[in-house]
Formats: sequence, structure tokens, C-alpha cells
Amino acid sequence: MDSQVTDFSEVPQLYKRHVFACHTQRPPTHPRGSCGAAGAQPLWERLGNRIGNDGLTDVGFTVSGCLGFCSAGPLMVVYPEGIWYRPTTPEDIDEIVETHLKNGELVERLVMVFARA
Ligand code: FES
Repeated sequence: MDSQVTDFSEVPQLYKRHVFACHTQRPPTHPRGSCGAAGAQPLWERLGNRIGNDGLTDVGFTVSGCLGFCSAGPLMVVYPEGIWYRPTTPEDIDEIVETHLKNGELVERLVMVFARA
């Protein structure tokens, strides 16, 4: 591969989309909070099951460590778009799967936008 490639779309990709979902669990009273304490685990289980059961072989799913915005959790990010979502219900997960992961459309009501300080 040419080392001067600047159009990243030329680079072969393993997945069409890749989801990273924070699985960090801190005690409920921890001052930073955590996605785990905010109920992430059953949501990510549903997400993983949906991706597998729906045969989304072009979608990668990685349970990650802390993504850095703990009090806003549960948080997940979808690449290559770089969209941060904060789902809180199983229905939210289903909507992200159907709308974004399958159809490439934004689930605007669940988007988290972080401003740099
Ligand atoms: S604990 Fe999930 S972003 Fe930090």
C-alpha cells in the first residue's frame, strides 16, 4: 500500500461500522459515576445479541473501557461516523440498530454532543 495515502476511504476496512460501548463499572457512590452504574450492562448485552441475531457481520462490536465522559453514561460510539449515543432503554438499542447500524441514519434524539472546554 502506498504510504502517502491521504484518502482513508481507500484503505480496506474490516467493518462497515464499529461500535465501542463503555463497560466500566464503578461503585454507585463514586464521584465520577460510570456507565456500568448507569445501567450499561443489559443494554450492551442486547446490542451484542441484536448484532449477532440480525446477522450484521459488517458491524464490529467492542466492549470498551472508560470513554471519558462518565457522568453522561451509558455511552457508546459508532464509527466511522464518530457518533456518540446515550441509550437508556432496550427500545433505544433497537432504534440504533435499525436506524443507524442497518440504514446509516442518525438517531438524533439519542446523540450526545460534547463541547471542548
Ligand atoms: S465510565 Fe463510561 S465513559 Fe467513563
